[in-house]
Amino acid sequence: MKYLITAGPTRELIDPVRYLSNRSSGKMGFTLAGTAARAGHEVILIAGPVNIATPDGVRRIDVTTAAEMYDAVAERINDADCAIMAAAVSDYRPAEMAAEKIKKTGDTLELTLVKTKDILGSARAPMGFTGLLVGFAAETENLEANAREKLQKKACDLMIANDVSKPGIGFDSDENEVLVLQPDAPTLTIGQAAKAKIAAGIILLCESLKK
Ligand code: CTP
Repeated sequence: MKYLITAGPTRELIDPVRYLSNRSSGKMGFTLAGTAARAGHEVILIAGPVNIATPDGVRRIDVTTAAEMYDAVAERINDADCAIMAAAVSDYRPAEMAAEKIKKTGDTLELTLVKTKDILGSARAPMGFTGLLVGFAAETENLEANAREKLQKKACDLMIANDVSKPGIGFDSDENEVLVLQPDAPTLTIGQAAKAKIAAGIILLCESLKK
């Protein structure tokens, strides 16, 4: 199978030295990419700025902003059989990037943010992807209900949900604990385990669901 996987955070530039970002380490997406490659699949990994080596056998494309990630995905998604969007894409970016470093002039500073494009939510339309679509849901409350809503709203075949408020799992951790949601099927739980084990389970499921 051919996989397209997104991973890591994005950075939204405020001025030449500052940006908005999040705590994603990229470990889950990179582990998924390595697992799929070792299983003999062709893998393109579209990665935000992270400090992780590229897994063997994986073709990596580095991007910085949500807009760059969107373009990199749109260009390649229709060559894939399965797209897994594990990246923690910034939902907002500064309306404008200041050309020069912003000076410390006032006691407060207001930034106007505008929404970025939802990459996963654009996979079916306008991108036209018909393959197996896998999303991630990072939640701090109402994990299953919020993830089920995202599964349906973004027309995914699988949604992997994790509670990012729990210490020891998720962001920047080597372990995770996830719910696996599919349309018209009961929710499965993969209890706390190494991200490598979780990734193996997800790739096996993708292989079995291939369209
Ligand atoms: N995602 C994306 N592009 C965005 C935002 C999110 O592709 N601009 C993808 C993520 O890669 C993930 C899924 O959408 O697979 C869900 O991300 P999440 O941050 O949990 O949800 P949001 O849609 O951003 O909703 P909210 O932040 O309101 O919970």
